[in-house]
Amino acid sequence: MTIKAVVFDAYGTLYDIQSVASITDAAFPGYGEMITQIWRIKQLEYTWLRSLMRRYDDFSVITRESLGYSLRTLGLKYDSSVFEQIMDKYVHLDLYPDAKRTLTELKQYKLAILSNGSSNMLNTLVRNTGLDAVLDATISIDSKRIFKPSPEAYSLIEDCLGVRPAEVMFVSSNPWDAVGAKSFGLSTVWIERVSPQAMAEACQNSDLVSPLTMFKALRMQMDELGVGPDHRVVGLSALPEILSSVSA
Ligand code: LAC
Repeated sequence: MTIKAVVFDAYGTLYDIQSVASITDAAFPGYGEMITQIWRIKQLEYTWLRSLMRRYDDFSVITRESLGYSLRTLGLKYDSSVFEQIMDKYVHLDLYPDAKRTLTELKQYKLAILSNGSSNMLNTLVRNTGLDAVLDATISIDSKRIFKPSPEAYSLIEDCLGVRPAEVMFVSSNPWDAVGAKSFGLSTVWIERVSPQAMAEACQNSDLVSPLTMFKALRMQMDELGVGPDHRVVGLSALPEILSSVSA
């Protein structure tokens, strides 16, 4: 198998979406973790619901609507400046510490992001974090007006990079995305950031399961959808080895 392109999911894979918790907690002390988890859970849910309802709107709108939902649900009052301050973190998310180094080590491949993010928010985030220097392309699903895990979204990789599905290694830490990419026909690496053992221990060791533990249980464990990823790794830095083993 010849892999020519390595394509990454953005939010949760190269970028740590949990890094919004510092801003949400500064804005609403004590509520940061709860806002952060409800926000992401609803944001994803809205992408799937809008795709099913054929009511596409871009990810920046969905991200705003899901943040509004989270604050309202928790009974929190806010003005537009607080809201915009929280939203601004989405274009300044923290990179995972091994992201830049891993991308640099993989520079013999075409490197790209394929994300549900809108073109505008993705390009701003990539520029703000310096990944524009290492990526060949930042692909938004915007032009298809349907979100991953729809096959139409993954088909953009071939359209934009000129590589066939068999020549692509797709990398995601989002289980639903790794499964979607595999189901479409891409080779996939799933980044398992929370092992089943760590998950079980987190549940056993707390009297009250925290919102973050709940998020890990809902969104960070491999799904049961009849198909699974080709590889499991614990972090981005394991990718060069995986790629050289499949190319050998
Ligand atoms: C992405 C999200 C939704 O596509 O994780 O980047």
